[in-house]
Amino acid sequence: MSPQFFFELSGESKDMPLAEAVRCLEAETDSFEVVKTGPGYMVASFDERFLQGVADRIALTHSMGLYLGEYTPDDTSGLESVVLPQGSFAVRAKRFEGMMKDVDSQGLIRRIGGILSKHNDVNLREPDVVVRMQMCDAVHLYLEQHVTDTDLLEKRKVGERPFFSPISLHPKYARALINLTGVKRGGTVLDPFCGTGGIVIEAAEMGMRAVASDFDEEMVIGCQENMDFYGLELADFETIDIGEIGERFPEMDAICTDPPYGRSTKTGGENIDHIYARAGESIPQSLKKGARAGVVLPHAVEFPTMTLENIYLQKVHGSLSRHYHVFRN
Ligand SMILES: C[S@@+](CC[C@H](N)C(=O)[O-])C[C@H]1O[C@@H](n2cnc3c(N)ncnc32)[C@H](O)[C@@H]1O
Repeated sequence: MSPQFFFELSGESKDMPLAEAVRCLEAETDSFEVVKTGPGYMVASFDERFLQGVADRIALTHSMGLYLGEYTPDDTSGLESVVLPQGSFAVRAKRFEGMMKDVDSQGLIRRIGGILSKHNDVNLREPDVVVRMQMCDAVHLYLEQHVTDTDLLEKRKVGERPFFSPISLHPKYARALINLTGVKRGGTVLDPFCGTGGIVIEAAEMGMRAVASDFDEEMVIGCQENMDFYGLELADFETIDIGEIGERFPEMDAICTDPPYGRSTKTGGENIDHIYARAGESIPQSLKKGARAGVVLPHAVEFPTMTLENIYLQKVHGSLSRHYHVFRN
């Protein structure tokens, strides 16, 4: 039987972190099973050799590692049989969104630490392994094996790139959008409204073949400049209107895009709903049958020939919510 791994999901946006984690498992493993889910977490079983591949691409999971089981604040006796890897350890606690606020977390840490220290030494400053205690619908313990590198993602934020335009998804959400399509490493990902390249940068960083187009030549050149800056390459690019992608870029494995919202991005005078309707016609022509498109829009839309699998909401500020559509061709 495969080991079980705990995923500590981001609380930032409601269903997206769980959906992203599942799609990453679809893309990176040969088989997996979601064992349970709850507030801010997922437990899934799969072969450990796939863990690194999942960790390398996932964005809306804070940390993950080998699951050591579920306990209650009053009963941690089951921990007697848990064997940690060799070396010292420390137990570190987190509450998900203020849950279990009446539980004395420090007291619980001491009790759990006491049980685990029968076989391993405690080292609070520089432990060899960190045992995470996630307090939510139960007390979940796991061995922290991967922590998502938020610093790296921050460094690729729009203001850090040489070619700059204020409208761009945060790299974390660009990654999540790509992951929601379930595209495999090595697959070809097109962004037909590439702008400054926020999405194709992440696609290339994640090991996909990144293809970019935009009707504004300045954007296509700027996108390449940004790719160069990070030592990345576009597999293909072109200055074309959204209506031309079916002919120029057929058989894409995924299309991930953030079309104009109408405010500060240029549309050449075209009404945004008209652009979305045209995108809805050309995206399925450019995408392989059965493949997915991830499209971020300010409101919900339907594309006539594609199946809308889901819409995930990301609150931006005030009344602005981004709608992450996942369509299947
Ligand atoms: C919201 S921006 C994309 C932001 C991008 N994700 C980034 O990281 O910078 C939308 C882009 O759509 C382009 N665009 C607008 N109308 C278009 C059309 N009809 N065909 C292709 N591109 C278009 C604009 O030039 C702009 O670069």
